[in-house]
Amino acid sequence: MAIIETEALTKEYRLNVRAKGIFGAVKSLLIPEYRYVRAVDGIDFAIEKGETVGFIGPNGAGKSTTVKMLTGILMPTSGRIEVCGMNPAKDRKRIAARMGVVFGQKTQLWWDLPVGDTYELLRHIYRIPKAVYDRNLEMFGDLLGLQEFIRTPVRQLSLGQKMRADIAAALLHDPEIIFFDEPTIGLDVVAKEKIREFLRSVNREKNTTMLFTTHDMDDLEQTCKRLIIIDHGSKVYDGTMEAIKSRYGKDRFLAVEFAEKAEPVYIPGVETVEREGSKLRLRFSKDDIPVSQLIARLSQTQAIVDLTVQEPDIESIIREIYLGGIRVEPSLSGVS
Ligand SMILES: Nc1ncnc2c1ncn2[C@@H]1O[C@H](COP(=O)(O)OP(=O)(O)OP(=O)(O)O)[C@@H](O)[C@H]1O
Ligand SMILES: [Mg+2]
Repeated sequence: MAIIETEALTKEYRLNVRAKGIFGAVKSLLIPEYRYVRAVDGIDFAIEKGETVGFIGPNGAGKSTTVKMLTGILMPTSGRIEVCGMNPAKDRKRIAARMGVVFGQKTQLWWDLPVGDTYELLRHIYRIPKAVYDRNLEMFGDLLGLQEFIRTPVRQLSLGQKMRADIAAALLHDPEIIFFDEPTIGLDVVAKEKIREFLRSVNREKNTTMLFTTHDMDDLEQTCKRLIIIDHGSKVYDGTMEAIKSRYGKDRFLAVEFAEKAEPVYIPGVETVEREGSKLRLRFSKDDIPVSQLIARLSQTQAIVDLTVQEPDIESIIREIYLGGIRVEPSLSGVS
């Protein structure tokens, strides 16, 4: 049986529509008018224990709203949700004991307390058996380097240290499911790498189910086996990371600015996405032509002022999906 399951999950937010002017304000008080925003529009998925899933989509797609329903913070407008065989909104307390949540932009640690004291408090709140607590602290301590700041008050920690401390806090009670909202946001490459490695080893050793929302493609590639992409509240892709990677992982974009008007480019395997004034945007596969060779070819005919090489982002992958580049696969684990 799936550990997380949703069926036709839908959430509408109700917004007050305020009419303009003083009469409008009075009228709104007497006869309130509402507008409804459908943030999540009938999403179905099933996630098995131990899966690592990237839950992604553009800004405003409905990711946070879905995660809030899965964690019981928000009540769905309609549809069904089951997490660990329970209804999150009804069994919020019992579910909290079985899941962990990490928000990249805020901390659940006590600001003025040393990290270690927060962990002690969590031990009591979650009634974590001493043996489990000690074993986890030792494992997380080694893998995340907690010792260097365990006695430091949270407000004195660097962003990377705080993130590591937060992740350990969310995992201390051995949750079966953990939700990460932008877990590596604002961190440098080394710190990101360390966190991804840690999450992979927790998943391997404890078979923890992990759900990520992130805009960082490297986070996804390195931590998730499965991707669920949503857009405008609906699911547009549900399948393996591998399929997305082999289709888009080799694509690159090159944005070039020339000293003069950009001339058309005729190089096999290189597609012109945009050509306007002195600017040119090309798309190519790094297997067809190495970027250095492409730049050399371009600079033979025209003087280059500026250039950037980009990897495809989530938005461009979604555009491709709409254009029919890749089909929505049936859920990998939908059969339970
Ligand atoms: N409390 C709220 N009241 C009204 N509308 C809301 C509320 N929260 C979110 N929305 C709207 O619901 C839609 C989905 O928002 P949500 O925060 O779930 O998106 P998201 O995918 O998490 O985006 P982001 O990548 O920016 O975090 C958006 O149109 C948003 O404006
Ligand atoms: Mg969000």
